[in-house]
Amino acid sequence: MGRKKVTVIGAGNVGATAAHWAAIKELGDVVLMDIIEGMPQGKALDLMEAAPMEGFDANVIGTNGYEETKNSDVVIITSGIARKPGMSREDLLKINSDIVGSVVENVVKASPNCIIIIVSNPLDTMTYLALKASKFPKNRVIGQAGALDCSRLQSFIGMELNISIQDVKVMLLGGHGDDMVPMPRFSTINGIPLSEFLPKEKIDQLVERTKKAGGEIVALLKTGSAFYSPSLGAVIMAEAILKDQRRLIPSCVYLDGEYGLKDICFGVPTILGANGIEKIIELKLNAEEKAAFDKSAASVGKTIAEMKAMKGIK
Ligand code: NAI
Ligand code: 2OP
Repeated sequence: MGRKKVTVIGAGNVGATAAHWAAIKELGDVVLMDIIEGMPQGKALDLMEAAPMEGFDANVIGTNGYEETKNSDVVIITSGIARKPGMSREDLLKINSDIVGSVVENVVKASPNCIIIIVSNPLDTMTYLALKASKFPKNRVIGQAGALDCSRLQSFIGMELNISIQDVKVMLLGGHGDDMVPMPRFSTINGIPLSEFLPKEKIDQLVERTKKAGGEIVALLKTGSAFYSPSLGAVIMAEAILKDQRRLIPSCVYLDGEYGLKDICFGVPTILGANGIEKIIELKLNAEEKAAFDKSAASVGKTIAEMKAMKGIK
């Protein structure tokens, strides 16, 4: 059996960094694709020239076409424009819908059996669009958001408590927007509830920071958005799939009645394995969590409806 193949579409900040993480983790051979001539080739060659120092065995190639991406096992889609200061994720809707729609058609032709991981924003809506455009079964189109958003909350808790982030476990639901739903009730330090370590007001502050964490980075960078952590989010999802790890990672998936929602792609806890989404975990939410969950779902539903009207999707 040969190596697995991971394609990353879009070789910008998130895409190139995803290729970097995937190569270091030796998930398989990596194909980096972008429409900018020479750029993915240059970044791929640069990564290959780093391989001897780190000692990773993965071929990384760059391309401007889909031929080299053929028969990929996992395709990570990062193509699109990123948020600039003052721009909401929804502002990206029109441009990124056109880009993601056409990319998905090409991906499906080249790799009809792949599992697609979407990163492009607005995340939940792009995941829905990719599912419809690909005509893939729902277990094979997954959006990256929860891995990143959980990791952000974990890092804030670790920094606050001066405790290893390895021992911080959190859960988070909802859309990848400022009304995402971090779940402190299901957050622990090695099994000990977070509330044993921090007062409610402090937890609320960390939750608020998490919700706005994407914007915090945009405000600092000024010319783009986060990329080290988002790309690793996509790569750990790819790893869970390629190694059939069956990890519990919240991700954006098509819901067909789960959590009382239908015909929406939305963030919920999932088991990720060889088939992509192996299982959706349904949690019992309390009244406050349910209200936040429903608010986030309404906002995602609205953007999906706008995109469907734009693209003429029934
Ligand atoms: P970037 O601008 O650095 O890279 C995007 C790349 O996509 C560019 O190199 C561009 O040439 C390429 N591209 C555009 N159209 C293409 C096409 N048709 N085919 C192939 N490549 C194409 O942007 P960055 O920072 O890498 O962000 C990428 C996307 O990921 C954005 O939509 C951003 O909002 C989103 N994002 C999502 C996150 C998440 O958690 N889901 C977190 C961070 C970013
Ligand atoms: C983020 O959360 C912009 O979605 C991007 O950093």
